[in-house]
Amino acid sequence: MSQQSGTPESPSPDAISSILVENRVFRPAPAASLGFTKWHIGSIEEYKALHAYSVDDPENFWREEAQNLAWFRPFDTVLEWHAPDAKWFVGGQTNACYNCVDRHVQAGHGDQTALIWEGEPLGPRTSHPVEGSRYAAEPEVKSLTYRDLQIATSKAANALKALGVKKGDVVTIYMPMVPELAVAILACTRIGAAHSVIFGGFAAHAISERVMDAHSRVIITADGGYRRGDVVPLLKNVEEALDQLTNQGHIVNHVLTLRRTAHEPPSKRFRTGEKRGATVLHWWHDAVDTASDACPCEPMDSEDMLFLLYTSGSTGKPKGIQHTTAGFLVHAQMTARLAFNLMPDAGQVFWCSADIGWVTGHTYVLYGILMNRVPTLMYEGAPNFPAIEGRPGAGDRFWDIIARHRVTQFYTAPTAIRTFMKWGDDLPARHDLSSLRVLGTVGEPINPEAWIWYHTHIGRTRCPIVDTYWQTETGGHVCTPLPRAIPTKPGSCTLPMLGIDAAVVNERGEEMPPNKGGLFCIRKPWPGMLRGVYGNRERFVSNYWGRLKDPKTGMPWYFSADGSRRDQDGYFWVMGRVDDVIKVSGHLLGTMEVESALVSHPAVAEAAVVGVPHEIKGNAICAFVSLKTHWLKAHKREPDAALRAELTAHVAHEVGALAKPDQIRFADGLPKTRSGKIMRRLLRDVANGVEKITQDTTTLEDFSVVAKLRESDEE
Ligand code: WT7
Repeated sequence: MSQQSGTPESPSPDAISSILVENRVFRPAPAASLGFTKWHIGSIEEYKALHAYSVDDPENFWREEAQNLAWFRPFDTVLEWHAPDAKWFVGGQTNACYNCVDRHVQAGHGDQTALIWEGEPLGPRTSHPVEGSRYAAEPEVKSLTYRDLQIATSKAANALKALGVKKGDVVTIYMPMVPELAVAILACTRIGAAHSVIFGGFAAHAISERVMDAHSRVIITADGGYRRGDVVPLLKNVEEALDQLTNQGHIVNHVLTLRRTAHEPPSKRFRTGEKRGATVLHWWHDAVDTASDACPCEPMDSEDMLFLLYTSGSTGKPKGIQHTTAGFLVHAQMTARLAFNLMPDAGQVFWCSADIGWVTGHTYVLYGILMNRVPTLMYEGAPNFPAIEGRPGAGDRFWDIIARHRVTQFYTAPTAIRTFMKWGDDLPARHDLSSLRVLGTVGEPINPEAWIWYHTHIGRTRCPIVDTYWQTETGGHVCTPLPRAIPTKPGSCTLPMLGIDAAVVNERGEEMPPNKGGLFCIRKPWPGMLRGVYGNRERFVSNYWGRLKDPKTGMPWYFSADGSRRDQDGYFWVMGRVDDVIKVSGHLLGTMEVESALVSHPAVAEAAVVGVPHEIKGNAICAFVSLKTHWLKAHKREPDAALRAELTAHVAHEVGALAKPDQIRFADGLPKTRSGKIMRRLLRDVANGVEKITQDTTTLEDFSVVAKLRESDEE
């Protein structure tokens, strides 16, 4: 590797952008100029030596790493590996809430800040005003110490116990980004219940599907949440989900509701203890606030389930990714510490802008950060609330938050960065971002242009950028730069995390030569790896372990479903999914999920969904829909803009707003191969404008011509 650095001595941004993409290398600046005086891993040589040790002798490496957890009972065996089933730290007992909260209190840090929260609305709700905001009205800010969290999680845990929640139960959580969400999650782990958090942007059907799959009997929610000045009606969505569940014979025993927005008209409000069907409703302020604040942390076996988190797959049904206690915690704690250089008592404030409804929020808003005893910041709302006067849709709230709270590490997604670019360079320029030390990105490959913008306008060319590649299934980072040690290249997640034996291989398991694309795989088990797909052994085995194996031993390898290449320096360049799953604004969506929602509308005969590149979202959803002509006739409807809007709203109602198609294209019928498979590649080409449709396509696409041309091209 050669080239310039990302140090203060580096060339101006203009000079940087004129250099060929492939060649740009940003070397870490001298330690002192990076702002942190201490770095866990200080050089590329140190990283390389540690990584080699970690994959040559994983048992000893992870045994040592596991000493960073507090154990109720030490483990006997580091790993039992009967591929694809791993048991880590066998015989040990620990507890997640204990590691995030109680051990810090016991070590005398009870008064330190654990969580800083900022609400979205501006105005009189403020409890602790903060200095230096440009806003006329102050946002609501709360700060919780480890002791506060210990008390709050104990009370919530006792309230859950009173609702009959026991060790091993799955509690569903569907809440806005408020401190009580963190409390609810940790309270579950305190008593040994597993949590299943559902992103607040999902709709009723997505909730009922997940509650049912997880056999969950208790839901924690809120009356509403604030988002871009609006109220998201969470309780209403839960009630709709309860109706669907009742129809399917699944009874939810209790719903515990936090009052956040008080937006329901008084007639719709309930009293604690009131029933809705067979479900008892409770207000959080009745059930939790009055509960005892003494609740010990339940000793959990290493392999007891910690949480389920649903993620989209290539079928219509989301997968409940299962994580267990000790392995997940060890992986989360180590990766958070190394990738962001977390250190307690060093004045750090960590902010990950992801919603806790996604794995990023699980691992790097909560667990990984709290375990490292660094304050974690949580923001409730949108980056463009309030909007900038005269510039509808644009906002600078994030930069204001960084400046006011003196954020040191900031972690966000490429789709957000591209949005900020569009809103204008002047917005971050108005703010004092000098507290920042390390920047992170996650969720999809970052385009070099966005990387350079982030580096220039947010990092002010001082901050290393860690482009962290991982998945819901991996629990934590698997490839990422270490900020002081690994030189970065815009668009590359660089090198494997310690303990991760990553490779790019072909279908036969042979490693690809430099710069040749292949399949991203991990050849050895690691503690944070998923332990299963809940209730679906077959899907677990075939999706992740059925495709690649060691050509010498026949031992299965983990396949991430991503295509990737490694360059001449061994750097990984992840290219994206090779299955029918698309990333829209950093969120995984199975094309089948959207298709199922579309065909559940009475007007739709068939639907096929493909991704098309989108400047900001990464991918946009393009749906090809053929309609039932008899339905159109009977209802005097046309394939027009009104029907498009109706279908879009239908998808939003079924799955959630994030799944709304950006384009709906009506077709007479969908192009199929002789064996009846929809020709997705053709549709992708059409959506991308590659394929010319010869006939007039003002309303209906006619695929008969192209389909004929492609008849031999069976996909
Ligand atoms: C998929 C996993 C990882 C937490 C958030 C998403 C893509 C994620 C990167 C990155 C290139 C990335 C992959 C992966 N992805 N991070 N830094 N560079 N691609 O978790 O929803 O489970 O999505 O996101 O395609 O498979 P997820």
